[in-house]
Amino acid sequence: MSKRQSIPERLGHDFLRALYHMIHTIRMYQDNNQLVRTSVSSFQNILHQLTAGGDISIVLYRSRFHLGGEKLPYRRETAVVVYNMAEFFSKRGIGSVNFLASSRDALPENIISFTRLFNDAIKYENPHQWLEQKLSEQEFTWVEISPKQDNDTTYLSESIEDNRYEKAKRMYFHAIETVKEVANKASHGMVGLRKSRRLAQNIVELIQEDEALMIGLTTLKDYDDYTYSHSVNVTLLATCLGRHIELSDLSLEHLTICGLFHDLGKVDLPKEILLKSGALTDKEWDLMKAHPFMGVRKILMLNATPSLRSRIILGPFEHHLNPDMTGYPRTLFIGHLSLIGKILRIADVYEVLTAQRGYRPISLTPDEVLRKMWGEAGKSFDTILLKRFIHMMGIYPIGSFVELSDGSIGLVMDYPDETERALPLILRLVNDETGSWQSGDLIYLADQIIKDDTDRLNIVRVIPQTKLRINPSDFFLHLK
Ligand SMILES: [Fe+2]
Ligand SMILES: [Fe+2]
Repeated sequence: MSKRQSIPERLGHDFLRALYHMIHTIRMYQDNNQLVRTSVSSFQNILHQLTAGGDISIVLYRSRFHLGGEKLPYRRETAVVVYNMAEFFSKRGIGSVNFLASSRDALPENIISFTRLFNDAIKYENPHQWLEQKLSEQEFTWVEISPKQDNDTTYLSESIEDNRYEKAKRMYFHAIETVKEVANKASHGMVGLRKSRRLAQNIVELIQEDEALMIGLTTLKDYDDYTYSHSVNVTLLATCLGRHIELSDLSLEHLTICGLFHDLGKVDLPKEILLKSGALTDKEWDLMKAHPFMGVRKILMLNATPSLRSRIILGPFEHHLNPDMTGYPRTLFIGHLSLIGKILRIADVYEVLTAQRGYRPISLTPDEVLRKMWGEAGKSFDTILLKRFIHMMGIYPIGSFVELSDGSIGLVMDYPDETERALPLILRLVNDETGSWQSGDLIYLADQIIKDDTDRLNIVRVIPQTKLRINPSDFFLHLK
């Protein structure tokens, strides 16, 4: 392959988006429709720019597109387009489309005919073969297609997919191990904070890159001991909230460490108390109420600079205190809660109420949890922060299962548009023949707005997780 100038990332995404819109409008309307004309002309416009340096190939490899030999990086705004285009190529057994430089001279009618053939190929037993034959019969000299070949890495600059899910999973499990290590060793005075700080920086970075995935990860509730996964989940939720109120990177790092360490004091509590399903006795309750204080004792034993230590003590101490200073531990020394304390309080309660544990089956769906919390705004939670938290999680919080108007079931994955918190990106789930749920297509509800009322999809209701017996985190991590 000849060396060509690398393609600007935005142009690559615009090209894929234009191709996607063109395919869809051509499928829905006739050739002379104005929408078809516009979509073809936008496509040609970008094709013109791309082929200025010669032929341009678009290759699907391991669910990712490569344009001119370079992988198109993941971008949240185009995730739906990429996903659906990957499906479109895969279902037709097509691995790549090569637009030759001569495609610059193709007439709009030619582009439309090619797109119709590409669309129709799905009706035939061997779509790729059928399409190839049609292209040669009708003398399409400006475009070439190749079958899907996932094992062929020769034409790619990169053979190993750097997987964002792998990165997220590694971080999550590393965080669990770190909290565990600190919890078990802190009392012996052997633990420094270098590792935790590096982890915190990594978490902050991942949240800045891929917030929805991080929120999705917090649906992982039963990895290892609940106290550890709870601590990591609270950390992720709290740091996401910190990002939404535009805390500096350094403050986010401190907030992350506070999240990881907020329940260190629980680790030494007897399991019978932590897992008790009935009411605690007075003595047990006294022990429970001491855990923020015990946690701070551990933090004080860490080998950290006095300035860092002073920044990570208050939050864990305050995380069960309410803005009106009720809650525990009772204290006369503090007049009002710190920002980190208030953030942790919100993340902590949301996490606990959405978790299912053996002794306490989930009774509330995530949106009901938010409503319940909103009922306590001002009393148990800082009102402004809680409002920001609810906005961040969306009307149907990320990780909720929903029933759609066509009767299918979906999982809320993201709210790609910051200003539109009622129209999520939904992964439709399909029940395979063994009765287990698998990933289906991705639907962005904001795209549904343009459709007429009859075939427009919307959310009918939220479904309790216990009803489906599936773990949302499997889908966020692409395990299904
Ligand atoms: Fe706690
Ligand atoms: Fe907690």
